[in-house]
Amino acid sequence: MTYLNFPKQFMWGGATAANQLEGAYREDGKGLSIADALPQGKARFDLVNEPDFDWTIDESNYRYPNHRGIDHYHHFKEDIKLFSEMGFKCYRFSIAWSRIFPEGDEKTPNMAGLAFYDAVIAECLKYGIEPIITISHYEMPLHLVTKYGGWKNKQLIGFYKRFAETVLTRYFKQVKYWMTFNEINSALAFPVMSQGLVKSNGAADKRNIFQAWHNQFVAGAEAVKIGHQLDQNLQIGCMLLYATTYSYDANPVNQLATLQQNQAFNFFCGDVQVRGEYPAYTDALLDQYGIKLTDLDFSAAELALLKQHPVDYIGFSYYMSAVVETIQKDHAEVGGNLLSGIKNPFLEASEWGWQIDPIGLRIALNQLYDRYRKPLFIVENGLGAVDQPDSNGEIHDDYRIDYLKQHIEQIGAAIHDGVDVMGYTPWGCIDLVSASTGQMSKRYGFIYVDLDDAGQGTLKRSKKKSFDWYRQVIASNGADL
Ligand code: BG6
Repeated sequence: MTYLNFPKQFMWGGATAANQLEGAYREDGKGLSIADALPQGKARFDLVNEPDFDWTIDESNYRYPNHRGIDHYHHFKEDIKLFSEMGFKCYRFSIAWSRIFPEGDEKTPNMAGLAFYDAVIAECLKYGIEPIITISHYEMPLHLVTKYGGWKNKQLIGFYKRFAETVLTRYFKQVKYWMTFNEINSALAFPVMSQGLVKSNGAADKRNIFQAWHNQFVAGAEAVKIGHQLDQNLQIGCMLLYATTYSYDANPVNQLATLQQNQAFNFFCGDVQVRGEYPAYTDALLDQYGIKLTDLDFSAAELALLKQHPVDYIGFSYYMSAVVETIQKDHAEVGGNLLSGIKNPFLEASEWGWQIDPIGLRIALNQLYDRYRKPLFIVENGLGAVDQPDSNGEIHDDYRIDYLKQHIEQIGAAIHDGVDVMGYTPWGCIDLVSASTGQMSKRYGFIYVDLDDAGQGTLKRSKKKSFDWYRQVIASNGADL
């Protein structure tokens, strides 16, 4: 049975992040962000966890694909026009913090950086596309890491607050939907991108991760407070990386471990940001890492702020599910977005080992809605795949259509289950640089960009088969898949 009765106001669109597509990494006063210092390679995460990784950018080789991105900075009009051709109702993008506050700790913003986002927002509105902004998406100013040690330092709350206040104040009349931090919970597995923590500045010590989270929760609550003071109808969400997590079998030991894994990874950050307070299992969770609450630096005033300013909705990414098995240790391993784990025998995996599980999305939507009873927004989903143009230069990405179709069917089913889903913005609606590997060859887009892993290509944009397919999905409000 398929249920494809999407609400009339359902927000269909696409999602990107500044550091993965803009390029122009030093233009118009932009400072360096952590993404500018992340080297390319499948082992990107291993590289940054070398004990002597020190963020120095070595320009002698082609190593930093984010520097050029897909040069959206100079192509945004063309790109947004293509989005409008697909009928996008909304477009999720992020503001590069280092374009607005190049080092992060300045008192006044870089006006040239703001001018760029003025133009991007105006271009969206010209086509009736609702802009949706992630305030911070894996691209904090590098200086905040090298000088202040990343998010474990409480001073970052004030720097983020200034950044958030600047962009909220400037855009609140044009932009109704915001998110505070991209995939805030990903730090448990890989804290470099959202917290600026690597081995050399304390990533191995979970105390730093929990302290950084606390600081981010407070900073996020400050943003919610500012946004609602500007306009109480602004919708400011959190953004979680959700990986539906199954127990390998009915063994209660594995079931318990699954519950604990869900608390630690899928729910902890959301529990604080949505409910405005630390969950009952906080002490037990910290205890698993040998930490006590008293090891962390927080105040009663901060806890009150969290309580008073919870988020309005839950944005989340969903690409794959995970399996927990604590007993047998000889299962095949698979990769994943910042997570790895054991192979689920019932699922196929992408070329990068991410286990494809559309029903897992219906489960995720039900789990999150049961828990929080706040609107949900699927702000990332998609298939990273190698696209091969045929002899006519066309890309027949039926595999991508198939992936998205199956996931949209499950969103329809979850809506039928009673879940309040605001919208759906597939990831990388135009090909861009991969976050986990820095590759261009890992493509998600409806729009192909001629650029390879060595930085070679014309940057020409062309429509894949999925482009027309998605246009028809939007035009039929999800009825025609
Ligand atoms: C999410 C991130 O984890 O997944 C994006 O929010 C990222 O920034 C996306 O690009 C897909 O991951 P990857 O590693 O394939 O680019």
